[in-house]
Amino acid sequence: MIRMSISNKPLFISFEGIDGCGKSTQVKILLERLEQARIDSTLVREPGGTQLSEEIRDILLKVRDDTMAGRTESLLMTASRAQLTHEIIIPALEKRKFVIADRFSDSTLAYQGGGRNLNIKWLIELNNFATFGVSPDLTFFIDVTADEGIKRRSTIHPDRFEKAGYEFQEKVRNQYLKLVKLFPDRFITLDGMETPHEIHNQIWADIKKYIDNNEN
Ligand code: TYD
Repeated sequence: MIRMSISNKPLFISFEGIDGCGKSTQVKILLERLEQARIDSTLVREPGGTQLSEEIRDILLKVRDDTMAGRTESLLMTASRAQLTHEIIIPALEKRKFVIADRFSDSTLAYQGGGRNLNIKWLIELNNFATFGVSPDLTFFIDVTADEGIKRRSTIHPDRFEKAGYEFQEKVRNQYLKLVKLFPDRFITLDGMETPHEIHNQIWADIKKYIDNNEN
C-alpha cells in the first residue's frame, strides 16, 4: 500500500459485466479504499459522465416504441465515450490521477457486438476512434450468469437494456467471456457470486500486483 501511494504512474481501471453483476458496488468500495490510501482518483460512468454524454445517455436508455438500430446504438455509445474521454479521462490521466470507469469500451464490444450481433472488428475500430486510442490498464470483469443478474435487479422501471431479456444478457455475457481471452493482458475475471468483501480484496490485491510489476 505504501508503494502505491508513491506510485507516480496514473492507472486507468475499468469495471465490466452484465446488468446486475455488482460492478457499481465494487467501484464504490474501491473509491473509498483509494481515498484512504490518499490516491487521487476520478470516477466516470458510462454512458454519460459529461453534460453532453448524459444527454446521449437519456436517448440511449429511454424505453421507446421504435427500435433503435444496433449501429445507431453503437455510434451513440461511442459518441458519449469520445466526449467523456476528451473532457474528463485524458485530462485526469495527464494530472496523474487514477481513473476508475464504471463501464468503458468493452461494454460496446459485449453489448453491441455480442448482444446486437455487430461486427467486433468494426466496433474495436470505432472504440479506437472514440477513445483517442486510450485503453484501460486493468479491466475487472465481474462474472455472473444471466439468471443471477436478472434475479438481483430491483429496478421498478427497467431501462431499454434491462428490458431486453434473458437471451440478450446471456449473449452479452458470452461475449465478455470471449473478450477475456482476446485481451488477456488487461482482463481479470472475478466470480460475482463471492461476497462483495472477497471480490474487493481480490481487486485490491490485483491492483497492488500490477503497480509492483510496472514500477521502475
Ligand atoms: P446503467 O443503468 O448505467 O447500467 P449498469 O449499472 O449496469 O452499468 O445502464 C447502462 C446500460 O447501457 C447497460 O445496460 C449497459 C449498456 N451499455 C451498452 O449497451 N453499451 C455500452 O457501450 C455501454 C457503455 C453501456
